[in-house]
Parts: sequence; C-alpha cells; structure tokens
Amino acid sequence: MSEPRTVLITGTSTGFGRLTAETLARRGHHVIAGLRDVKGRNRTATAELTALAGNEGLSLEVIEIDVTDDASVTRGVHHLLTTTARLDAVINNAGRNFAGPLEAYTAAEAMQQFDVNTLGALRVNNAVIPFLREQGHGALIQVGSLSGWVTPPFNGLYAASKAALASLTEAWHHELAPYGVESVLIEPAAYPTNIGQNAAMPADQERLGLYGATLAAFIGDITKNAAAPGSTAEVSDALADLVELPHGRRPLRTLVAPARQFEAVRAVHEKAAEATRIVAEDMGIDGYLRRARS
Ligand SMILES: NC(=O)c1ccc[n+]([C@@H]2O[C@H](COP(=O)([O-])OP(=O)(O)OC[C@H]3O[C@@H](n4cnc5c(N)ncnc54)[C@H](OP(=O)(O)O)[C@@H]3O)[C@@H](O)[C@H]2O)c1
Repeated sequence: MSEPRTVLITGTSTGFGRLTAETLARRGHHVIAGLRDVKGRNRTATAELTALAGNEGLSLEVIEIDVTDDASVTRGVHHLLTTTARLDAVINNAGRNFAGPLEAYTAAEAMQQFDVNTLGALRVNNAVIPFLREQGHGALIQVGSLSGWVTPPFNGLYAASKAALASLTEAWHHELAPYGVESVLIEPAAYPTNIGQNAAMPADQERLGLYGATLAAFIGDITKNAAAPGSTAEVSDALADLVELPHGRRPLRTLVAPARQFEAVRAVHEKAAEATRIVAEDMGIDGYLRRARS
C-alpha cells in the first residue's frame, strides 16, 4: 500500500464519487466525502457512509459541500482544513447532465449546467489552493468526460461544460506547477451510474416536444449501445491509482474507456499536446508551460 493520503471527494452520494470514497478508504487513506444536503436528500447516503466507516474501521468522514454554493464550499473546506493537518488530493467529481436539445434551454438553465460541472471545481479549488500552496504539494483531480472531446446531439451543454473543465484543468496545471500543486483530468467513457436518472431536462416542453421522436430514439440507441462498458470500478480504481501516484508523476489526462475509444482519443491527446507546444512556441510563451505527461 502507498503512504496514506488525505483526500477530499465531492459528490459522493452515488456513482463514481461514492465508489471512489469507499475504494480509497479501504486502501487505507483518509477520505473526506463531500455530499450536498446531508440532512435532506442525502440523509441515507450520509448514514450509509458513516456506518461503513464504523463497521469496517475506515478513516472516512462526511462533510457537507454543495459545489454550486459559495458559502457551502467555504464552510466545508474551512471545517476540513481546521480539522486535518494535511490535504493531499481533491477529486472534483460532483456533476450532472443537462440533456436535451440546445434550443429548449434558457440561458439561466444553461448556467446551472456550468455552475455544477465547471464552476463547482473552480469554487472548491479556489478554497483549497492557498492551503496546498503553503503545504507545497497537492493534487487537483477533475472528473471530465470523453464528452469533452466528442459532442453528440442532445448533449451540447454537458459536453461544453466538460470541455471547459478540461481547459480550466490545463490552466491550473501550468499556473500551479511552480507551487508543487498538480492539476489533472480523468476522462471516463460512458458508464452505468445514476447520471442518467439524475439528468436535468429543459423546462420548455414545447420546444423539447419538437424533438420528441428523435430524442427517444437517440436515448434508446445510447442505452442499448452504451451497455457494453465494464464496471464503474474501472473509474474509481483509476481515480484511486491517480491519488496514490507520487507527487509530480500524475499525467495531465487519464482516459478510462473501452479499447477502441481509448486508442482514438489517446491519439487526439497526443496531437493536442503537440499543437499546444507549437502554438505556445510561436507565441513565445512555451517557457510558461509545464511539460505535461500523458
Ligand atoms: N457515468 C458516466 O458515464 C460518466 C462519464 C464521464 C464522466 N462522468 C462524470 O462523473 C462524475 C460523477 O458522475 P456519476 O456518473 O457518478 O453520476 P451520479 O451517480 O449521478 O453522481 C453524481 C454525483 O454528483 C453529486 N452532485 C450533483 N450536484 C451536486 C452539487 N451541486 N454539489 C455536490 N454534489 C453534487 C450527486 O449528488 P446528489 O445525489 O446530491 O445529486 C452525486 O453524488 C460527474 O462529474 C460526471 O459528469 C460520468
């Protein structure tokens, strides 16, 4: 086992976040599991995580963090930093899928998609970065998506929010490297979590209805064909492995996908890294880029 790490994970009620919290705690790490609304919608998940920690003697505690709420993030991180001597990694996992045709969404609804998937990570990272900088090390691990590269119909907002998260991750990667703080992205393919049933649909039923038959067929095909991927443990194990890597050794991007998709997107990663280098050289700013592992 690697040396015990202290890790904050957001969005641990279900899915990848829940499994990663359990996996890391069972591997002997100290896990701070963030959930929103611990006394309401997530009361059961909170009780289950607390019971698991007690039953198995795990170092796992629950804190309340709603990543869309500045005050909640500030409160949760403040509590965490006053009760722990160190923080080695933060996994920005909380996310939702605003699914449906773009024209049915208002700008206000679209902002909610970016608020949770993109700005949520910005809020959490802004809260922890001063501590990590002072500490001289730490990892910011964002849960992106293959949708950050591939934009199918009816997934435009989600894909845009994950592409934006990838850009933030890369900027942090360069900006924070001088302070010993790493920023990296994991990009999973489609896996069967609660993300589908938690999806937010647009309120404009009239415009949504115009796409009814196509959307239903699309969801049917996605559900049928996306049934292929393996277990969600592939993602939680990859996240736990990233946490355990020695500081300075984490790749900028980690793909978790079936072989064919993995190879295709991996090739795009390499091209993107090369393009970044060339553009930065031509702009005379390559000296500001941290050399990215991939
Ligand atoms: N499943 C996939 O195919 C897939 C693929 C690529 C990337 N991802 C990404 O993986 C991450 C985890 O998703 P999942 O697939 O595991 O889905 P999930 O089971 O729906 O889990 C999403 C988690 O995010 C939490 N969350 C939502 N809004 C939040 C907020 N405002 N504050 C704090 N927590 C919040 C949810 O908590 P509540 O129960 O309170 O809503 C839940 O714990 C997401 O970022 C998602 O975009 C998923």
